[in-house]
Amino acid sequence: MSLRLKLPTVYLLVAIILVCSRLFIDDTHAGEFDIMVRDRAIVQRCVTDHDARNIAVGMPGGFSFSFDPVRCRLVYVWFGGFLDFRSEATGRGGLMVDILGVKRHVGTALLPLRMGDAHRDPGTIRFDGYRKELVTGIPTFLFRVDDVPVEQRVLSFGPDQVTIELTFPESHRSESHRPVCYYQMDPTAVKSVELSERLRMSDSGVIEIPVDETWAQIRLQLHPIKDTFVRKEPTTNGHLLYALHCMSCHTLDGKKRIGPSFADLWTRKRTVTRDKRAEEVIADEQYVRESILQPQAAIVEGYENANKMVDIRKTLNDKQIDALMKFLLDLKPME
Ligand code: HEC
Repeated sequence: MSLRLKLPTVYLLVAIILVCSRLFIDDTHAGEFDIMVRDRAIVQRCVTDHDARNIAVGMPGGFSFSFDPVRCRLVYVWFGGFLDFRSEATGRGGLMVDILGVKRHVGTALLPLRMGDAHRDPGTIRFDGYRKELVTGIPTFLFRVDDVPVEQRVLSFGPDQVTIELTFPESHRSESHRPVCYYQMDPTAVKSVELSERLRMSDSGVIEIPVDETWAQIRLQLHPIKDTFVRKEPTTNGHLLYALHCMSCHTLDGKKRIGPSFADLWTRKRTVTRDKRAEEVIADEQYVRESILQPQAAIVEGYENANKMVDIRKTLNDKQIDALMKFLLDLKPME
């Protein structure tokens, strides 16, 4: 028998090899195209939509969102995995990349931020890119609406929960205050909306941020859905857990947000109300642990009317809470 193969046979063999390798890719190496978010947030420009310019962000813990840099708005979020590049890599799905989860709308208007007049579309919107937090990679989007600088971060404290955080850094150009800022959304698209202290929302869904407020937190509870695509890789990185679940309400630099800063957590004397009685405490490990596990057991003076702390046990397991405790203990000054 001749060993020489005829040309058509060679073509056939090559075709068979190609088909097999394609199957091999699909069956055993599927994970390679599934971008896994581990201990750092991932910011990815890719086509997840019919709007090619959107930026996809995958946060550790299974929360992801799409940000539109043209209109500078959060478009939608999803919980589960991040992105699946398989269709892109194998050339079957054109340029589109699938999101690994169910698209959840957050009620954002097409142009949510307005300056001075809630009903006037902004004249100019300029996207200035984003800054990444050093340790966690969490992005802060930087942009200007009618020349007023705005910084926006998007976080999630738990299942079906989305937090939009807006900061208004001092504008170096103008000496006066910025105008009143409005954030427009459709409140019926979500289950509930909670706002940081000085914000007000009208029935039509316009949130007003007063001129002298430099920081705003808008917390959305989404309508629950049946979908259970969750592939969490629970992280035990304490700093990361702080950044994901506490940072928005508790700073490390002494600034007051929704809750007290952690800058002097271990040294500050505070008055708390426990069982309707006031008592003075200096934080020890037990107090801090209790503050996390039973946030309502002792309320710090001055925060009686603050937005309630979230029940973190719904989101974090025991190991993660221990890791968070360790991170907080490391903030303790040396004796
Ligand atoms: C939505 C805002 C919010 C989030 C998110 C939040 N907290 Fe709080 N936290 C508060 C408020 C408000 C208080 C003060 C009222 C009270 O004592 O419960 C507080 C109080 C505390 C205290 C007591 C502080 C003191 O000085 O006595 C600790 C400790 C604490 N939180 C830890 C955490 C940790 C750890 C996380 C993240 C897992 C977290 N919190 C997430 C709002 C929040």
